[in-house]
Amino acid sequence: MSKALVKYFCKNCGHSATKWLGKCPSCEEWNSFTEEVVQKSGGAKKLWSKSGHTKSEPVKINEIIEGHEQRLELPDNELNRVLGGGLVSGSITLIGGEPGIGKSTLLLQLALNLQKKVLYISGEESESQLKMRAERIGINNSNCYVMCETSLDNLLQYLQKDIPEILIVDSVQTLSSEAIDSPPGSISQIKECTAELLRFAKSTNVPVFLIGHINKDGNIAGPKVLEHMVDTVLQFEGDRHYNYRILRTLKNRFGSASEIGIYEMKGTGLREIENPSEILISEREDHLSGSSISCAVEGIRPILLETQALVSTAVYGTPQRTSNGFDLRRLSMLLAVLEKRCGFQLGIKDVFINIAGGMKLEDPGLDLGIVASILSSYQNISINKDIAFAGEIGLSGEVRAVSRIEQRISEAEKLGFKEIMISKYNKGIEQHQSKIQLVKVGKVEEAFEWLFG
Ligand code: TYD
Ligand code: MG
Repeated sequence: MSKALVKYFCKNCGHSATKWLGKCPSCEEWNSFTEEVVQKSGGAKKLWSKSGHTKSEPVKINEIIEGHEQRLELPDNELNRVLGGGLVSGSITLIGGEPGIGKSTLLLQLALNLQKKVLYISGEESESQLKMRAERIGINNSNCYVMCETSLDNLLQYLQKDIPEILIVDSVQTLSSEAIDSPPGSISQIKECTAELLRFAKSTNVPVFLIGHINKDGNIAGPKVLEHMVDTVLQFEGDRHYNYRILRTLKNRFGSASEIGIYEMKGTGLREIENPSEILISEREDHLSGSSISCAVEGIRPILLETQALVSTAVYGTPQRTSNGFDLRRLSMLLAVLEKRCGFQLGIKDVFINIAGGMKLEDPGLDLGIVASILSSYQNISINKDIAFAGEIGLSGEVRAVSRIEQRISEAEKLGFKEIMISKYNKGIEQHQSKIQLVKVGKVEEAFEWLFG
């Protein structure tokens, strides 16, 4: 009788070992090893073997003729954008996200909108549930096939007979291969299923989308393990209490990895938001203190959004700092700069920051707008609603230049702002190039003087 082959996997990075280890030698995480039975029946049989195996030979790099990557333009501009300009044939894209954020909706909607033969494999929902969702989205497409299947072997057998133009797998955690004894969702199953689908994609040139779950409890391997294997990793995120959803590129072998796509979840599926600025600054009241408009950049797209601050006297001994959508440590730094360099007594105040619309951004260009909102709330004087802000604050209170300033300026101009406050260190930006009035400052004090002085 053959003995079950047991292996140990790191839950964090997927490193495998033959014995249990306290600390992972690869990612140095402690206590991350779990035991899994990985006995393979009939050796390491490769299920996807249609194309056969050809031996590769080394070639000189300058003799390789550059094949034009075949890109398929999708009917979803936001998705095209995050994929770097369309879907590359034979690519494998992983979409991760918390439960209920809308991953299935996004891909079913794509399948319904595409004029191509799409096969949507669902291991989570029944056919009638998928039908219900399709009715909600409200598009009829006779080229969209769904299949409820959790066995990788059955799926690959079916694919031998009939190859779709696009394959969607919802989700990779529900698939399992008979070649491996551990349960679906375990690290070895996820790795094996992805490896098979990768072979399928590369040998048939069919693009594959995988949906991956992120689980907080850590029992099931998160898609982290897969990130090395796939070509593109997208993350679908958002706040449950808001309808906005952001699709972010985390890794992209075929394009930039700093793009975002913005959607709104509606009763009839996801709606692309082509001009996020108009929505994010539309709910603004005049003459309220503690609010300003910042011009941020995510990827290559400028986004205008409202940053709000509330500064109030601390009721308890330790002042509170709370931030929604802005890095808390960065907020502490900005407050320290305002205290030390400009003499504002913020150390005894509670400070709350909110980026309107549930957006979460990491652009340092938000600093100037955040500082303006904090000072406006501190002074209880509102900021003129025709001014936008774009600048990073340094530790000595200097306003630093930010990237893509031309795009920020033209976006603010396009949306009807009359003035934009920027750093005077942005090179080559002259007033005569734009109709919008440029307010150039070098230090936080100058910004304060200009706004409230
Ligand atoms: P779903 O795609 O099932 O999320 P995931 O696959 O990431 O778990 O989306 C679930 C949520 O989206 C659910 O709470 C209902 C909501 N929803 C809408 O608001 N409008 C719609 O048209 C659809 C299909 C879903
Ligand atoms: Mg789902």
